[in-house]
Amino acid sequence: MDYATTDIVRPFRTAVVPAAGLGTRFLPATKSVPKELLPVVDTPGVELVAEEAAAAGADRLVLVTAPGKQGVAAHFATDRELEHALAERGKSALLEKVRNAPGLLAVRTVLQERPLGLGHAVLQAERVLAADESSVAVLLPDDLVLPRGVLDTMARVRRRRGGSVLCAIDVPADHVGAYGIFDVEPVRDAADPNVLRVNGMVEKPAVGQAPSTYAAAGRYLLDRAIFDALRRIEPGVGGELQLTDAIALLIAEGHPVHVVVHRGIRHDIGNPAGYLRAAVDFALAREEYSAELRDWLLDRLGVDRTRQAGAA
Ligand code: G1P
Repeated sequence: MDYATTDIVRPFRTAVVPAAGLGTRFLPATKSVPKELLPVVDTPGVELVAEEAAAAGADRLVLVTAPGKQGVAAHFATDRELEHALAERGKSALLEKVRNAPGLLAVRTVLQERPLGLGHAVLQAERVLAADESSVAVLLPDDLVLPRGVLDTMARVRRRRGGSVLCAIDVPADHVGAYGIFDVEPVRDAADPNVLRVNGMVEKPAVGQAPSTYAAAGRYLLDRAIFDALRRIEPGVGGELQLTDAIALLIAEGHPVHVVVHRGIRHDIGNPAGYLRAAVDFALAREEYSAELRDWLLDRLGVDRTRQAGAA
């Protein structure tokens, strides 16, 4: 099979979305509602991530779920009764909304029986890949990376430089302990200064021991070699099999890894504080909510709007 030809037509076909976590930071809501289904305004985070994957050319979404989290995949199933009821009442805008998720891409579920880490979750997706898929995208549904398009840039970098390409954000130095952190160097004659070569990667380093402030932001375009590396790593931070450690192993073995530094917005909707910011941000971008919400926020914060208007 000629991988190169396949890659030129489409950089990757399958997007893996790990959705097996317990969502402990959102308890008690996540007792019965998977955190991936919590709405950002009116759309579950996992649907936003599926839209991003589809826009980047994926035609298949592999959801890695845990026992009891079937609701995540159910969101992508067609609900004929609901569609019929909406159609009968002439609710065409709502009909379009409920048809969006099932129409994006083909969804498959694989089960991660036990919570053994992100690396272990990604490894479960290998069994459903076709033989000719030389790379796979991984999108963490906790991360919303905006505006969209970073996956396209990552695909271009893989085409030019081979190997694996990840998305990085520059985080404050005292936040490095929440992320996978890259050891980077500039790429000579790179057309894009936001493309960096990765010489190493470390999961959740202590402040002061991080090789840089460039952090993994939940978007990965991984060469298929990642699965073999995932089988060879030992449990790392938190006693879990870390995706970061498998990437570090590939780098150590000479596999090319680059990052695209994303200079836009990144919301972490995996915790209530970040989730609220994302909800406000998305609502402010929606015509039907923005004006009222903005006025209410300014009032609530005690901002004097006459002075604001005067200053503008
Ligand atoms: C995971 C990854 C980490 C990455 C982060 C991005 O960590 O292990 O390398 O930087 O996602 O959100 P988690 O947030 O699941 O602890």
